[in-house]
Amino acid sequence: MMVAQGPNPNRFFGRRKGKAIKGSRQVLMERLLPRVALAPPAGALDLTRAFGVAPKAVYLEIGFGGGEHLAELSRRHPDIGFIGAEPFLNGVASLLAHLNGSHLKQAAHAQLDAGRADNVRVWPDDIRLLFPFCADGAFERIYILYPDPWPKARHAGRRFVNPKNIADLHRLLSARGRVIVATDVADYAGWALDQMARSGLFEPENADVHAPPPGWVETRYEKKGLAAGRAPSYLIFRKKKPVGKKGLDLSVKKVHNAIE
Ligand SMILES: C[S@@+](CC[C@H](N)C(=O)[O-])C[C@H]1O[C@@H](n2cnc3c(N)ncnc32)[C@H](O)[C@@H]1O
Repeated sequence: MMVAQGPNPNRFFGRRKGKAIKGSRQVLMERLLPRVALAPPAGALDLTRAFGVAPKAVYLEIGFGGGEHLAELSRRHPDIGFIGAEPFLNGVASLLAHLNGSHLKQAAHAQLDAGRADNVRVWPDDIRLLFPFCADGAFERIYILYPDPWPKARHAGRRFVNPKNIADLHRLLSARGRVIVATDVADYAGWALDQMARSGLFEPENADVHAPPPGWVETRYEKKGLAAGRAPSYLIFRKKKPVGKKGLDLSVKKVHNAIE
């Protein structure tokens, strides 16, 4: 019997491949990716055993693009486990080159310095496919940096910061965790703020949204935007405190004013 299929809620609308991956990057995809890729889980994913180290905490970066931010953060924090998700395979190849130290060189050593990627695992696909396998509170930080803005109203359902994903982010974030959304599209910043506030699950933490968090690492999209004169917004969210608990009373309206 044929079962009627509804629209796939996890349909991916971005690009998976750009120009052919050749030469040194192809070597990295063949030799290095198998070492750092997360295998599709058969059941619940035990992130304490997913890395070559026992991580103090696990951070997730969704849509790492060229991997500049992920490579640098994982280098700075060898005791943190990093999961990076990116379905665009040319981006995955770029991350591998950053990890390998050969990003601007022709040679593909494909031999990481000992331990270099022990704290990095790559999910070369849509992160939403991994969510069901991850435990509640698995991540202490979740980065969503320069998400595709999908500016047309009729494409608004494709924006990553949407009610379904927000509910998943809330489940997956630890009690003390933070979700960090960066964008230089003011409309998207306003949208993300509203969606998070309307969910009733998150509250903004920072009023000065144009000030980069300490030690911030610029992404490729961020650098391009800055060069073109666009102003980034950094929206930091934490889980909303239960009513009655004292927290920072940061009104969403105040943050909206700061974005504009
Ligand atoms: C505009 S790019 C920004 C890349 C990078 N974060 C930067 O700032 O340079 C957005 C990236 O998010 C990725 N992306 C979109 N939806 C995703 C999803 N569901 N899971 C993982 N990555 C996703 C896209 O493939 C794309 O590379």
